[in-house]
Amino acid sequence: MKLAAGVMGFPISHSLSPRLHGFWIKKYDLDASYVAWEVPPERLAARLKSLPDTLAEEGQLFRGTNLTIPLKEKALSIVDIIEDSARAIGAINTIVMEGDGLIVGRNTDGIGFTDSLAEHVDIARFKGKEALVLGAGGAARAIVYALIQIGFDKIHLTNRTLARAEELAQDMGDQVIPLEWDAREEKLAFADLIVNTTSLGMKGQPPLEISLKNAKKDAVVTDIVYVPLKTDLLLEAEKYGLVAVDGLGMLLHQAKAGFEAWFGVKPEVDAELRAYVLEGLAQK
Ligand code: ATR
Repeated sequence: MKLAAGVMGFPISHSLSPRLHGFWIKKYDLDASYVAWEVPPERLAARLKSLPDTLAEEGQLFRGTNLTIPLKEKALSIVDIIEDSARAIGAINTIVMEGDGLIVGRNTDGIGFTDSLAEHVDIARFKGKEALVLGAGGAARAIVYALIQIGFDKIHLTNRTLARAEELAQDMGDQVIPLEWDAREEKLAFADLIVNTTSLGMKGQPPLEISLKNAKKDAVVTDIVYVPLKTDLLLEAEKYGLVAVDGLGMLLHQAKAGFEAWFGVKPEVDAELRAYVLEGLAQK
């Protein structure tokens, strides 16, 4: 039977996931499909329940789905099993249907971030080190979770709304230290990794104002924004000779675990996939 998965969101037309998974389905020559489903939050539970039967009528086996805005948090109250990653991050981005009909929720954004970073540097070097994270929204939760797993000793978390940084610190543990937004440059001299998790610097958004003049000489700088691919933050990093990691890698790498769970093939992130997804991005 044809294996079926997809991505649910509201709206969903902007999603690059169908293109990304479609590339792998073709590459590995699978009898599988990956489509976009527009699902309003109040319909999520009913949709997850009805899809297996609907798809079965078309000769397809529903294997699961990615979730995007605004369904990631909502799903926590719907799935049967919440994996540790999703519980810690407080959001589900990947749903896997188990053989016994159970709906399992996990979050692969953190591991996507780590795998993307690992493409550029040996992450073992970050053990016991300090990081500076800009922003305390949903993306920051996944990234802080990843940084704790990587072994950072201190994670300075700066956010325009300090209360949100404090709340995230409370949820995540003592390593996370809230920092006033206006003080965001003060910890640069200690940070081995600098991450922007805000929407600042994205096309159509205000710029991210930060100078990396005082950053450590071997700091690594990453941005979750990938439109433009080379943000002002990454250009600033390059100006000082720092390693710059763009946000597209996280998107590509977070997709691997879902694909493997649904379709049984461990997919590869390579230059060809990257170019193909970038081409799709240019068409949006
Ligand atoms: P996501 O789930 O994608 O992380 P989010 O939860 O809306 O999105 O978070 C967006 C992040 O960008 C937040 O850290 C937000 O800061 P606030 O918590 O103060 O809202 C940050 N952000 C957005 N616009 C900003 C701006 N103009 N200046 C500073 N930070 C901004």
